[in-house]
Amino acid sequence: MKTAINLKPTIFVIFGGTGDLNMRKLAPALYNLYADGYMPKKYAIIGTSRKTFSDEKFRDVIMDGVNSFSRTGKVKKDKWSTFAENVYYTPVDVSAPKTFEGLKERIEVFQNEFGPETQVVYYLAVAPNLFPMIATCISDYKLAGTEDTCRIVIEKPFGRDLETAKELNQLLTSIFTEKQIYRIDHYLGKETVQNIMAFRFANSFLEPLWNRTYIDHVQISVTEQLGVGDRGGYYEGAGALRDMIQNHLLQLLCLIGMETPINFDADEIRNKKVDVLKAMRAFSPEDIRFSTVRGQYTKGWVEGKEVPGYRHETGVDADSNTETFAAIKFHVDNWRWKGVPFYVRTGKRLFQTSSLIAIQFKDVPHQIFPAGVTEHWQQNRLIISIQPEMSIRLQVQGKRPGLDMVLNPVDMVFDYKGTYDSESPEAYETLLLDVMTGDQTQFMRADQVESAWELLMPVISAWESKKSLSFPNYTADSWGPEDAEALIARDGFHWFKLPLNKD
Ligand code: BG6
Repeated sequence: MKTAINLKPTIFVIFGGTGDLNMRKLAPALYNLYADGYMPKKYAIIGTSRKTFSDEKFRDVIMDGVNSFSRTGKVKKDKWSTFAENVYYTPVDVSAPKTFEGLKERIEVFQNEFGPETQVVYYLAVAPNLFPMIATCISDYKLAGTEDTCRIVIEKPFGRDLETAKELNQLLTSIFTEKQIYRIDHYLGKETVQNIMAFRFANSFLEPLWNRTYIDHVQISVTEQLGVGDRGGYYEGAGALRDMIQNHLLQLLCLIGMETPINFDADEIRNKKVDVLKAMRAFSPEDIRFSTVRGQYTKGWVEGKEVPGYRHETGVDADSNTETFAAIKFHVDNWRWKGVPFYVRTGKRLFQTSSLIAIQFKDVPHQIFPAGVTEHWQQNRLIISIQPEMSIRLQVQGKRPGLDMVLNPVDMVFDYKGTYDSESPEAYETLLLDVMTGDQTQFMRADQVESAWELLMPVISAWESKKSLSFPNYTADSWGPEDAEALIARDGFHWFKLPLNKD
């Protein structure tokens, strides 16, 4: 049980303090942790950026962020004022390392005030090209502390390919120990994602079925209605593979595919996840042709409003080859999963925002019911809906009430809304608390990040070296390119479009 009582005094340094991530996610998360009694008794939050702000002005700026983006709505005046008393600002210009002196002085003030137990958390909420410079300055100014006194949180993307990820890992591990490094993947902090482990390993009925004998395929689908918005500049250098599949979707796949850990230790769990990545079949050029699909959206209408195509978004090349959609068929070649395809897809400007994992079980070995009874026959499915609906549905066959024997699929539903009164915390609340308590379970270890890059590198290279002649190939507000339907249809399946509209 995590409580404020256990937490050491903490100095939270946020690089990119005036940036979008702090406004939208970090500041609201820290405020909500405070409001719910999960911040340490002694803490200081120091925002940094190149801008010149007073502490007061910075407090006002982030209050606007919290008011606009917190899951709990506008701040409560009294809570905010006591929270904000511990919020400070110090200008730091990463391109002028001398400015770290001011930061060092400020950190030392709080270290002296809070005592020797104090831990410092550096949160790098900045553009990835600044990660190495900041880490180097932290080292140069002797701010890297020890495993007990210092942690660094690195946002994604962690590298832009295997080589750059390795370089970054090398640099970081030359300054910090692995125990000090928290590579964040916010999907792992989502309530429903954490529940996958609970559902799989705290219940005995699933494990005997969780394998190639009973499961015929798995789908992991993260679809987004939004386009790239004002992130075109970043997205041009990323694309769906780097932005979503290398991290979020592969992590979901690992949670479904992993073997049972022997305990709940961070490294034990991460070992089991790495095993999945290591068992994944490497892509041959032929696999890339037949098992991967890329897409890019063109203009369309979303909720009555015309939206631009990707190539017309701000910061995007008019002839861009960047994919805004990707669908891939993966294989996990081990005893549990050999022969079970894992279909993964993600994209922007799709018809619906929904993240779901669907596990389709094999059909009954022998059909005893006559044809008329089984008109609406559907193989059993387990649907884990991560968002927006938070639920787990087991789809089974049931008898429709009436004098005749007619079967149809019915859902056994565990729905968060109907089951729990309390609202779920935001992923960032969970993850920031984990950082403060020193729990790395939901963070990426160096080898996890590298294995994920290694797996995807052949696809990335192939897509980059060969321009897609079909781009743009799907309309905004559609379900993506037709080839993505064909990819799964070739094996006799189709993408499930839950949670709201049953197909
Ligand atoms: C981020 C990606 O990591 O995740 C974004 O960079 C994406 O492009 C976002 O929109 C999706 O996160 P969520 O929590 O809204 O599903």
